[in-house]
Amino acid sequence: MRRRIAERLDAAGFSATTLIHPQATLGSEVTVGAGSVICAGARLTTNIQIGRHVHVNPNATVGHDTTLANFVSLNPSSSISGDCVIEDGVLVGVGAVVLNQLTVGRDAVVGAAACVVRQVAGGSVVKGVPAR
Ligand SMILES: CC(C)(COP(=O)(O)OP(=O)(O)OC[C@H]1O[C@@H](n2cnc3c(N)ncnc32)[C@H](O)[C@@H]1OP(=O)(O)O)[C@@H](O)C(=O)NCCC(=O)NCCS
Repeated sequence: MRRRIAERLDAAGFSATTLIHPQATLGSEVTVGAGSVICAGARLTTNIQIGRHVHVNPNATVGHDTTLANFVSLNPSSSISGDCVIEDGVLVGVGAVVLNQLTVGRDAVVGAAACVVRQVAGGSVVKGVPAR
């Protein structure tokens, strides 16, 4: 839905703003794309690329050298470890964890409180500990 709305607004010539709450913490070399929202309590360490229209909800954390592609949503208190690639349109549920050096494929869903321990295929839904 967010992707479709952004396409319509882009086509109409609007430019999306970027919102970063003053109580979010962003380290060095963090880039945030247009239309993204970084909520209070979010912690983003260093060398992180965040695409367009990404939502990083309260108290979510993102480790070093990680990429969040466009339209990713990190629900509250989820945690993405270092060296991860979270592809376009992924939803990471509340309190879920993605371990380091993993890729979560395009439009996949990680269930609430899951622990992702291996690569997640695009379009899939994984849940539980370890996430399957
Ligand atoms: C994983 C998820 C996407 C599955 O949604 P769904 O396909 O509608 O799943 P259902 O509710 O029909 O449940 C299907 C089964 O999975 C189980 N299940 C659902 N979510 C689960 C989770 N996060 N972890 C473990 N099991 C889960 C259900 O208990 C059910 O098990 P059963 O078949 O043995 O009864 C969803 O439950 C989820 O976790 N979404 C994230 C929500 C979130 O982050 N909310 C915060 C918003 S701020």
